[in-house]
Amino acid sequence: MNKPISTIFVASRRALSTLHPSALATVSKTSDALRDNPVVNPGIPVASGVGSARRTDNTDPKEVLNRIAKLHDTDLLPNNVNGWENSRAFLQQVVDILYDYIKEEHKRSTKVLDFHQPEDLKKMIDLKIPEKPMNLQELLESCEQVLKYSVRTGHPRFFNQISCGLDLVSMAGEWLTATANTNMFTYEVAPVFTLMEHEVIRRMIDLIGWGPNEGDAIFTPGGAIANMYAVNAARHYHFPGIKAQGMSDKLCIFTSEAGHYSIKSAAAVLGIGTDRCFHIPTDDIGRMDPEALERKIEECKREGLQPFFVCATAGTTVFGAIDPLQKIADICKRQKTWFHVDAAWGGGLLLSPEQKPKLAGIERANSVTWNPHKLMGALLQCSACFIRHDGLLMDTHQMAADYLFQKDKQYDVKYDTGDKAMQCGRHNDIFKLWLMWRSKGMEGYRRQVNDLMDMATYFTDRLKATEGYEVIIDKPEYLNVSFWYVPPSIRHLDDKEKYARLETIAPKIKAKMMERGTTMVGYQPDGEKPNFFRMIISNPGTTKADLDFLIDEIADIGKDL
Ligand SMILES: Cc1ncc(COP(=O)(O)O)c(C=O)c1O
Repeated sequence: MNKPISTIFVASRRALSTLHPSALATVSKTSDALRDNPVVNPGIPVASGVGSARRTDNTDPKEVLNRIAKLHDTDLLPNNVNGWENSRAFLQQVVDILYDYIKEEHKRSTKVLDFHQPEDLKKMIDLKIPEKPMNLQELLESCEQVLKYSVRTGHPRFFNQISCGLDLVSMAGEWLTATANTNMFTYEVAPVFTLMEHEVIRRMIDLIGWGPNEGDAIFTPGGAIANMYAVNAARHYHFPGIKAQGMSDKLCIFTSEAGHYSIKSAAAVLGIGTDRCFHIPTDDIGRMDPEALERKIEECKREGLQPFFVCATAGTTVFGAIDPLQKIADICKRQKTWFHVDAAWGGGLLLSPEQKPKLAGIERANSVTWNPHKLMGALLQCSACFIRHDGLLMDTHQMAADYLFQKDKQYDVKYDTGDKAMQCGRHNDIFKLWLMWRSKGMEGYRRQVNDLMDMATYFTDRLKATEGYEVIIDKPEYLNVSFWYVPPSIRHLDDKEKYARLETIAPKIKAKMMERGTTMVGYQPDGEKPNFFRMIISNPGTTKADLDFLIDEIADIGKDL
């Protein structure tokens, strides 16, 4: 049900009433100053209602709240040069709304989502851009409403797609990042963050296993774009003339049938063409068949195509499979093609000495995609493309815009990283990662990754031991656990009929689950396989009891289907 605005505002008032008395006092004082001396910020109107009640030393916080609620952005910094206390009070309320949200999100009794059909939701929440300015009270109400109807992705029972919980240190980093509002293109505007990026990139390259003088990287808006960077760098490496002269139609690239769709999308965007992105078959647990890869490369060469890029995946999106990296590296060496590892999802395994051997061969890659916003739990978004060949990122993307990248600056301009990117402005994704990583250290991550792997084993074993559940892969390599729930009504059917009927079961259970709002997990079909649940165990806040809950909840919803 929609909550009436007046009810929602009670929470905002509660929030302000927790303000430190000194803050409230100064809020009020500033309002008075504005009323008494409206020319302090000439040309900027003082909002109506400001200072309508005189402050005394024992001002009632509610009274102050009522007053501040009527203020506008013109009463805040920077529009009002004396608006610091108003600004502080406003931000304090926003932060209190966020505190409440975070606290509620971590309670099992809180719903994961409050689902409404789009047409209903449009009526429940006002999204219009108004002609007249809205006041701060209305803005605070908007903040609350937006959170109310958003999915609580940090909830320990949110399992839809990859969910990594809400790492509070990383979130604090994101708050600081937003406040600093730094553009990462040059050292002159981002001195500390540039050095920080450099430091973290070196640490990650070390984990990948490249040498001390090898490797470079760029943080990208997501793994899909990181993959595109890799294809582009590989193409520039093999065919440098294309940057200026455009492309021939002979280039082709390879990934597995289970590879992420962003490789195909990079082929489309970079003019290679989706028909020239070949998908190599996989084995029964979703790993690329290396012999089939080599056969396809040779076939392409015979047909006059120019194979130049192979993407192996370390942690496929659906089954979490890890392609045979060593064998694929051997093939790339023999066939003289670029070897890319899409470890967007699986890269986090490098943080655990116990799990790292699964990625053996990644150190032979020419490029690697690694998303700290997946297994490492950095807040969205945080993703990087690593290129082994130093200088190649710059060569590939450099446009040398002279309003940004003057060569005669007073510092070493190798720290101006912006021209390595396809983007111009670039978001600061490093601080939240750096802060979070320092909060855990290598030890903390090792534990976190190992614990999650144990949880995935626990969940798989529980499914196998529970009537009505069938796992798709008996021993998953990673944190993806895919399974069917088979309701009693179809358990006796032969496989053909059972699988035909199963197609509709997961969507029906998912719909009901979303209505209940108790938990959330994704489903999908795959080739011949009817719709199955795809569970990813990546939220360190999830407990075994939460996994048990999911098993019971699905069975409870599905038992009568
Ligand atoms: C293996 C793999 N590569 C790339 C991506 C794309 O990453 P992003 O969503 O950050 O663009 C995903 C996303 O799930 C993935 O699983």
